Amino acid sequence: MQVHEKRRDITANVATLKKQNKSIGFVPTMGALHKGHLALVEQALKENEAVIVSIFVNPTQFNTSEDLVNYPRTLASDVDLLSGLSKEIIVFAPTAKEIYGERPESTKYNFKGLENEMEGKFRPGHFDGVGTVLKHLFTITSPTKAYFGEKDFQQLQIVKKLVEIEKMSVQVVGCPIYRKESGLALSSRNKRLNNSQLEASPLIYKTLKQVKKDFGTKSVSKLNEWVSDQFKNNTELELEYFEIAKVSDLKSIKRKRKDTKYRAFIAVFAGKIRLIDNIALN
Ligand code: PAJ
Repeated sequence: MQVHEKRRDITANVATLKKQNKSIGFVPTMGALHKGHLALVEQALKENEAVIVSIFVNPTQFNTSEDLVNYPRTLASDVDLLSGLSKEIIVFAPTAKEIYGERPESTKYNFKGLENEMEGKFRPGHFDGVGTVLKHLFTITSPTKAYFGEKDFQQLQIVKKLVEIEKMSVQVVGCPIYRKESGLALSSRNKRLNNSQLEASPLIYKTLKQVKKDFGTKSVSKLNEWVSDQFKNNTELELEYFEIAKVSDLKSIKRKRKDTKYRAFIAVFAGKIRLIDNIALN
């Protein structure tokens, strides 16, 4: 199992793979790996001759230093989990200096408005940080295909836009949301949930599933109201936003139209831990 900190070691590997005409699958992560991440890696292993996984807690995409400091860092067990899938995986675990030099800074991107919806509203500058780090990582790893979870659906759409803007040749592949049996979408931040928060957490997906059921018959405003009622008296979970939005531009809607694809998006606080989830409605 190769684990590299230096970009020159990855670019050397990539140059060899390119010479051999091998396809490269790339899975960018911030570590604290769980089965959701591993599902992306497994898909990458199936579809490519070589796979690179990056593990990098990217400072420029965090809105609060508290969230950045508290983000779990578990490199040794991450590497163990990956080597359980395949010893051939190449791991890139750089320092911030290796990616950004002395001062981590993000580029200001115009993702055609996608960056101003939902997560963009509540986490200003977040997607500039994501775009900036992925531009660096795509340049270093030069992948044929890169894998992203629908768990972060807005991020997935923004990465597709980034590749277009930066005219990069990587194919962006979206993968389904991996959930616990309880319905809670797996997330590295779940490791920080206490028992009562964990017990309350299935309400998030349960609510999304009910919205999907009722989407055909109930109005958008009724659904919005119903969702906010579900969280009103909950002592563990606080609703930050719920929106029904068009898949094409992620703008929230008041009324549905024919022949348009919609998804429901939700963000909830369990104490200080922020959980997001979404579901396809049609
Ligand atoms: P991270 O949160 O570690 O997630 C890495 C990838 O795993 C993302 O594409 C995310 O959508 C996917 N993922 C996380 N939980 C998932 C789940 N339950 N089911 C399916 N996929 C899941 O997203 C990031 O890191 C960063 O923003 C990154 C893209 C690495 C840039 O820094």
